[in-house]
Amino acid sequence: MLKVLVCVSGGGTNLQAIIDGVRQGSILDTELVRVISNNKNAYALERAKQAGIPAVCVSPKDYEDREAFNEAFLQAVEEASPDLIVLAGFLVVLPAQLIKRYENRIINIHPSLIPSFCGTGYYGLKVHEGVLARGVKVTGATVHFVDEGTDTGPIIMQKAVEVREDDTPEVLQRRVMEEAEWILLPWCINLIAGGKVTVSDGKVHISE
Ligand code: GRF
Repeated sequence: MLKVLVCVSGGGTNLQAIIDGVRQGSILDTELVRVISNNKNAYALERAKQAGIPAVCVSPKDYEDREAFNEAFLQAVEEASPDLIVLAGFLVVLPAQLIKRYENRIINIHPSLIPSFCGTGYYGLKVHEGVLARGVKVTGATVHFVDEGTDTGPIIMQKAVEVREDDTPEVLQRRVMEEAEWILLPWCINLIAGGKVTVSDGKVHISE
């Protein structure tokens, strides 16, 4: 059984896709052991509660400095002793210590085809605004392992989504979620739970 901890900051539609995947059996051999939010008002916390998953809020606002927050966050992770940490719309920079300790055991979903429209400053609607401003015809989503950089870790899987002429950032964001994010993330977790994902030389290999 793969013990999965999910970190969230907002609405939690990706969290919901994972919950549904575990419930409906498209994600096998996986237990959602804890949800951590940095934002006490995140609707994702409500989704976790409704699904009976232990959920906690660890907010930087509640701590004196970054070091104190990092310590509390690490503790909240360790208490759950997860096999895999999933960043599902988590807008906090992870403590370096955590990234080292969980090498190739933290995954993130980013709403573009990395290496386009990613890195510092590209989060939320800004990604889709960038896509429309550049006029690219195809965008998508990427699931990748997390390393010390921003959106620089080994890529696990990507899915393309069409950009349409009359798109607004909001409309495009929704299409990327529906056609890519909510499919890709559960799929990757299932592959990891099945022991099918390995990393060597910074590249991901998926076995049949
Ligand atoms: C998603 O677009 C995800 O790719 C990005 O943040 C958004 C989170 O949405 N990293 P939700 O909270 O899962 O609804």
